[in-house]
Amino acid sequence: MDYTTLANGVKMPMLGYGVYQIPPEETTRCVLDALEVGYRSIDTAQAYFNEAEVGKAIEESKVDRGDIFLTTKVWINNAGYDKARESILKSMDKLRTDYLDLCLIHQPFSDYYGTWHAMEDLYGEGRIRAIGVSNFEPDRLVDMCGFNRIKPMVNQVEINPLCQQTEAVKWMEKYGVQPEAWAPFGEGQDGLFTNPELAEIGREYGKTPAQVMLRWEIQRGIVTIPKSTHIERMAENFNVFDFKLSDGDMGRIASMNLDKSLFLDHEDPRSVETFIQLTTEQKDLF
Ligand SMILES: NC(=O)c1ccc[n+]([C@@H]2O[C@H](COP(=O)([O-])OP(=O)(O)OC[C@H]3O[C@@H](n4cnc5c(N)ncnc54)[C@H](OP(=O)(O)O)[C@@H]3O)[C@@H](O)[C@H]2O)c1
Repeated sequence: MDYTTLANGVKMPMLGYGVYQIPPEETTRCVLDALEVGYRSIDTAQAYFNEAEVGKAIEESKVDRGDIFLTTKVWINNAGYDKARESILKSMDKLRTDYLDLCLIHQPFSDYYGTWHAMEDLYGEGRIRAIGVSNFEPDRLVDMCGFNRIKPMVNQVEINPLCQQTEAVKWMEKYGVQPEAWAPFGEGQDGLFTNPELAEIGREYGKTPAQVMLRWEIQRGIVTIPKSTHIERMAENFNVFDFKLSDGDMGRIASMNLDKSLFLDHEDPRSVETFIQLTTEQKDLF
């Protein structure tokens, strides 16, 4: 496993396991499988509704809590100082842990400054080892870096061969913010798992398109957190540290960039309206 060192000196695995869209009844088994395969970083969120099942897996596994890098994210419904603080402590209870390795603001909406101040305080109290954001476009990220006591240490955004975030990553680097990729496979959209270019590159190294996509991110210095409910795929996705893509192949993948999200544009007011509607519909769930 390769590691990156965050701005505050905390070491974070370059490859982790994401549990978005894994139903609660499957989550404990999946996380136990992932830990068995060798993953030591788990990415969940309040809005995934499976924190308790992640916590159960960590408790049941033979891996020490200290060897696991555990991330959760604060959802929009819990924005603002008091609600965010209370919700993070509740997440820790669900996760059966008294500290988080990383806590992120999930979306750049509502009172995320209040949320950030709660996270800064919990960081100061030693309850969170690193704090960061997710889905922050460069302008909002620079704002967060410029007007807070503590700068975000991580920004988790969509990154895959079709949405490469080249410009956004430059801004993160300028401010010492570690980029982390969600949907490293674009959830398989646009046939990414059978893409002929990625398959051809993979054949040179005896690797699959999935492995090529993850390796490309790791070589760009981007932390990546693929999700799979299948143990063979978890193992396939984990097996990316025994080869190195050539500069030529890195360039071939760079030329696949469509430079736009496969899912949603966070700067589009209609996307914001969708989140407003969702938080209203889900107000009793948080
Ligand atoms: N911060 C955010 O807003 C945000 C948003 C989205 C995701 N995330 C995080 O990022 C993680 C990863 O993103 P994601 O889950 O959206 O998508 P993803 O990892 O890009 O893709 C997951 C999909 O790929 C399939 N898959 C995985 N490995 C495969 C392989 N080797 N061969 C073929 N198919 C494979 C999975 O199917 P099976 O499960 O059936 O194997 C699943 O359908 C999430 O789990 C979550 O932790 C964060």
